Amino acid sequence: MQGMQRRLNKIIRKSTGRSLVIAVDHGMALGAMSGIVNIRKTIDDLDATGLIDCWLMTKGIYTHAFDPAGDPGVILRASGGATIAGPELTREGLTATVEEAMRLGVDCVATSAFVGSDFEHETLINMAALSTECRKWDIPMLGVIGLGKTNEDKKKDPKFIALGARVGVEHGADIIKTYYTETDFDKVVAGCPVPVLIAGGPKCETDLDTLEMIHGALQGGASGIVMGRNVWKSPNAVPLLSAVHGLIHENMNVKEAHQLLEEKAGHTL
Ligand code: 5RP
Repeated sequence: MQGMQRRLNKIIRKSTGRSLVIAVDHGMALGAMSGIVNIRKTIDDLDATGLIDCWLMTKGIYTHAFDPAGDPGVILRASGGATIAGPELTREGLTATVEEAMRLGVDCVATSAFVGSDFEHETLINMAALSTECRKWDIPMLGVIGLGKTNEDKKKDPKFIALGARVGVEHGADIIKTYYTETDFDKVVAGCPVPVLIAGGPKCETDLDTLEMIHGALQGGASGIVMGRNVWKSPNAVPLLSAVHGLIHENMNVKEAHQLLEEKAGHTL
């Protein structure tokens, strides 16, 4: 088995072809936001479920706050350099090298490209350059397709999201993370010859909404989710994780997953 496939197997579970990735990389731009203030505890509580295929985090959190019980996959966030306090969140540059990723022992690196933003060109060139380095070492690259504030209205536009996903692959991504469009998500997947994971996005109103979103994405052909706020901001984070796992790896429908959530939470929701 080649290095690339071995590492991809740490991200996407071979038995189901799907993945449940938990993202805790938000602090790089947003600081210690609620849900990840005590990031060690958030990671430990979720890790203890044993349900997570893979994590997405920065080198800082990987180095100082990550001590999983088992050996889950890790995607190292390799782009950043912009915060909510600064002038432009889309102005990301590369913040880690592939050599560094190899030394840390992670399975994949991730970089963002902000399609349609003022920094589209820079972020796509970063993506392509990182991919060139990744190929030298057989390490997969997750292309995180963002839009930037000016294109916020296009988040649910399948044509625009399909464009971004395809552009990411053309610039070297082996897996794409992008937004779930609710309509015609199958068309996004159809034009993207690598696995598509949806971004969890801002906290949904209810956990049921979260389950419906994930189920809809899977029906549309998504290979899973990279989920942050919707899990660690939920008052039912651990039970919710079981329900999400049920959708992704046990082919549950929304009703079954919601029942599992209530069962694990010990009350109706
Ligand atoms: C933040 C990210 C997140 O990793 C990603 O969007 C998933 O988290 P959430 O479910 O909270 O959207 O790229 O920079």
